[in-house]
Amino acid sequence: MSVQISPSILSSDFGQLAAECERVAGAADWLHVDVMDNHFVPNLTLGLPVVEALLKSVSTPIDCHLMIEDPDRWAPEYAEAGAGSVTFHVEAAHAPIRLARALRSAGARAGMALKPATAIEPYADMLSELDMVLLMTVEPGFGGQSFLDVVVPKIARTRELLGPDSDVWLQVDGGIDDTTVEIAAEAGANVFVAGSSVYGAADPIAAINNIRAAAIAAGG
Ligand code: DX5
Ligand code: ZN
Repeated sequence: MSVQISPSILSSDFGQLAAECERVAGAADWLHVDVMDNHFVPNLTLGLPVVEALLKSVSTPIDCHLMIEDPDRWAPEYAEAGAGSVTFHVEAAHAPIRLARALRSAGARAGMALKPATAIEPYADMLSELDMVLLMTVEPGFGGQSFLDVVVPKIARTRELLGPDSDVWLQVDGGIDDTTVEIAAEAGANVFVAGSSVYGAADPIAAINNIRAAAIAAGG
């Protein structure tokens, strides 16, 4: 199971966004872009025009995490713009299967995110419609929060549902650093979002490399 690291630009300097993205180029597998609409979560970040601008200027593939209401209406536009991966929240989606299919047919990997208290089991039969499951390990809305251990059993159950060599990636997001990544990797996650632990570090590339090494050592 290959380990991938997706630094979240939420903790970067928004005044220098393109340059901040380039700071992790070469070390990051993806750039995690957190879109928040101030309705689904109590915070407002950026939207499609900024993602379109980043797609033009940044070399790393973009992993869009949409924390927005009505993703059925908005998410396909991020796929059509060229985001490599587009993740919607199941709590906000009206028709998650139809939406996942729309994202795939627009050329993106289709991701579905679950907040910490949302169970995976009701979605067991639709996992083959997805390219990635994102399990939030903090309540979505802000960077810099602490990893919620309470989600670890759900990571393990989701890995069990997917199987060990699934084509569906299992991403975790929230409070990931070179310590918590071990817990998540041991439980079965293989794609790791890290915001403050990468962009808050003096050397973001070294931080990514440390997180990756810890994940691999933990059996990711
Ligand atoms: C939170 C976002 C995360 C956030 C992670 O709602 O989805 O991607 O940037 O930040 P850290 O790694 O600082 O928890
Ligand atoms: Zn995120």
